[in-house]
Amino acid sequence: MKIAFNGHAVVQIATNNGVKIIIDPFINGNPSCNLTVDKIKVDYVLLTHAHADHFGDTLEIAKSNQATVVANPELCDYLQSQGIEDLVPMQAGQTHDFDFGRLEYTPAIHGSSLTIDGEEIQMGKACGIILDIEGKTVYHMGDTHLFPELQALGENHAIDLAFAPIGGKYTMDAADAKTAVETLNAKKVIPVHYNTFEGIEADPNAFVASLPEGVGFIPIVGEFFTL
Ligand code: NI
Ligand code: MN
Repeated sequence: MKIAFNGHAVVQIATNNGVKIIIDPFINGNPSCNLTVDKIKVDYVLLTHAHADHFGDTLEIAKSNQATVVANPELCDYLQSQGIEDLVPMQAGQTHDFDFGRLEYTPAIHGSSLTIDGEEIQMGKACGIILDIEGKTVYHMGDTHLFPELQALGENHAIDLAFAPIGGKYTMDAADAKTAVETLNAKKVIPVHYNTFEGIEADPNAFVASLPEGVGFIPIVGEFFTL
């Protein structure tokens, strides 16, 4: 498969058999993203949680592409109320087989609210996403702090690539992300969720340097690489 990191927590995946996926499509208002919403062509939108810097432009992207959206049940209810029909609600611990491979929702320690017309609405639980696609395993951790189940996730999955938040404040900082990477025994790690807005300042190069040689990886934003 081919993967691109598009800034903050936005990840795109293109499988070898032509399925296109976007995770947490925070495009408009994301200073580190160079995508244009109306040019995005995807079959699936996968959401870790409802916060605006992850939910982002889901409504527009899902509608214009008639994409399938995978999210927690409460967020799916909201999406349905907004006219999105093709929904797969999932909770932490659940797995689901798709035409691109297997998806597992993982726990995350974080909130999941969406502000609509100035009112903050709670939308289920925040999660992470593990994808088994074409023999490789990708783990998008979502927004989270360290949590005990990381140990079991690392034992049960041979993780080829993890996207780990390092910005602190709302998620793990770089030191905790290093612990997470070691706990998971991930082969490659891309730091995410830093320097996008105030409060999540972090040095991705220092994070990479803190890991064993060849594990940490900072891709060029928006450029697809092969996994
Ligand atoms: Ni969040
Ligand atoms: Mn976030």
